Amino acid sequence: MDTFQSLLAKKLSDALARAGLPEVGELTQATDPRFGDYQSNVALVFGKQRGENPRALAEKIVAHLDVDEFCGRPAVAGTGFINFTLRQAAVEKQTLEVLQDDRLGVAETESPRRIVIDFGSPNVAKPMHVGHIRSTVLGDALARVAKFLGHEVIRDNHVGDWGTQFGMVIWGWKNLLDRQALQRNPLAEIVRVYKETNERASRDTEVREACRQELVKLQAGDKENTDIWNECVAFSMQDFERVYKLLDIRYDLQCGESFYNDQLPNVVDRLLKAGIAEISEGAVVVFFRDDPDLADKPLIIRKRDGGFNYATTDLATIDYRVNELKADTIWYVVGAPQTLHFKQIFAVAQREGYTVDVRHVTFGSVLGEDRKLMKTRSGENVPLRELLEEACRRARKIIDEKNPDLSEDEKNDIAEKIGIGAVKYADLSQYRTTDYIFSWYKMLSLHGNTAPYLQNAYVRIRSIFRKAGAIAVATPLWGVGAAQYEEAGHRPVATAFTLTEPTEINLAKRLCQFAEIVPQVLNGFRPNILANYLFELANSFHAFYEACPVLKSEEPARSSRLMLSDLTARVLQRGLDLLGIKVPERM
Ligand code: ARG
Repeated sequence: MDTFQSLLAKKLSDALARAGLPEVGELTQATDPRFGDYQSNVALVFGKQRGENPRALAEKIVAHLDVDEFCGRPAVAGTGFINFTLRQAAVEKQTLEVLQDDRLGVAETESPRRIVIDFGSPNVAKPMHVGHIRSTVLGDALARVAKFLGHEVIRDNHVGDWGTQFGMVIWGWKNLLDRQALQRNPLAEIVRVYKETNERASRDTEVREACRQELVKLQAGDKENTDIWNECVAFSMQDFERVYKLLDIRYDLQCGESFYNDQLPNVVDRLLKAGIAEISEGAVVVFFRDDPDLADKPLIIRKRDGGFNYATTDLATIDYRVNELKADTIWYVVGAPQTLHFKQIFAVAQREGYTVDVRHVTFGSVLGEDRKLMKTRSGENVPLRELLEEACRRARKIIDEKNPDLSEDEKNDIAEKIGIGAVKYADLSQYRTTDYIFSWYKMLSLHGNTAPYLQNAYVRIRSIFRKAGAIAVATPLWGVGAAQYEEAGHRPVATAFTLTEPTEINLAKRLCQFAEIVPQVLNGFRPNILANYLFELANSFHAFYEACPVLKSEEPARSSRLMLSDLTARVLQRGLDLLGIKVPERM
């Protein structure tokens, strides 16, 4: 189904054609509701290009506009903006269509693509820490939105399960391992061993050399070392899985770096043969001499000692994703410090003739309240699992106060939805590229732009319907509350909206905008647009609910308002779901 935005944009470009202007009608949601619902600055753009008076041009365009079905006559404002204000009847009609649509008006893309999303991607033998939250939560939200819009999405966890650190892990395993500690908390023990070895290696050349030997043996396929490596990977993956379970994250593929090992010599040979790479001081290197950005930043793909590295693996990974997975596009949701790495990798792929659309989706850091990178008191990275468990504990306190009579199981379930939701939302509602400060107090607040606020709005609506069910007043449109309808397997069939109060018209307009907002998330990878929309929607709902009685109003307003409430709940639920956030039925 078409949105107001797409309908009006089409009308605008028709008008431009009739006015003898190029048909590139830019039309956006109005920035200030006082001036209408949609606006266009085409007259300003063309005026500038052609040296014509933009206001006169705007009048000319308006004279050719045929939008009577949706709006009153568009107004020309300021230096030449064209403002559109929707007619109430058009809003009522459109809202009804959205209500009756399972997709809530959101159209599927006309050009579906196969998208590989590389996100999360933690490193083995290290616990996931708070720094991993962004890539994981952002990647998941982008995957959900892309899938909902009709793209084919492959979620890939590019786990760091190979590399020079394994020389140390294996030496430590053989020399320092405490078996009992390993049984108690495997990953903690592996991390301890790795850290201690690292420290010893930094002051003792013998240890360093021994670690190197262990690595060489591992790379040569030595049985004992391979077994140790396998065990370490398995322990780490178990730890990751627990975090993914809490976060409700799933992957289609978990091809770690090791998956590409046997392809690495081919990658190097191929690039040498193609003349893209060359031998320099014993290493194999790609120079980007004609690229001003990268001219002084050569990329090593085989070290002097014959070892391959992170970059070589990423080149093999592109091959695999293009040739085996048939990806049209690859999104790498990885922090900004790897910007140079991906520039180099993408430049090599382009030289090889790959046309796949590759994007590095960067993000800022998570800071502590002191505005420095978030650390524990002893200066360590904050383990992600502990942080998430803490979130659930804190949410549980809120529920204990708000709703002490719920059962223990129900309280725990709600606490998880609120706690995890709060952490995710605090992340996703921020501009992706800026740093943000992690604040328990803010993210768990029931007021303000937080997950609990939105979840609470949903819960409030659900309680209206529980009450409606209990009152069970028969109405022409609603025999019983929506809950009962849903239990019976069908949604109430409405015949019309009747909107009279400004707050209900405003709410209805917002509900119609959901379909305009969702596709925008993928322009520039901005889940915060959706988050902010949901926040405004909840605000509009609260304004409506304050001003308009629902259950106590007369028909037909009563049914119309129940339908508005039902639709709001569905949009909140679907919108939060696209962000990976669940809603409780009570809280
Ligand atoms: N494991 C890497 C890290 O923690 C991230 C991997 C990102 N993906 C990739 N294809 N390089 O830094």
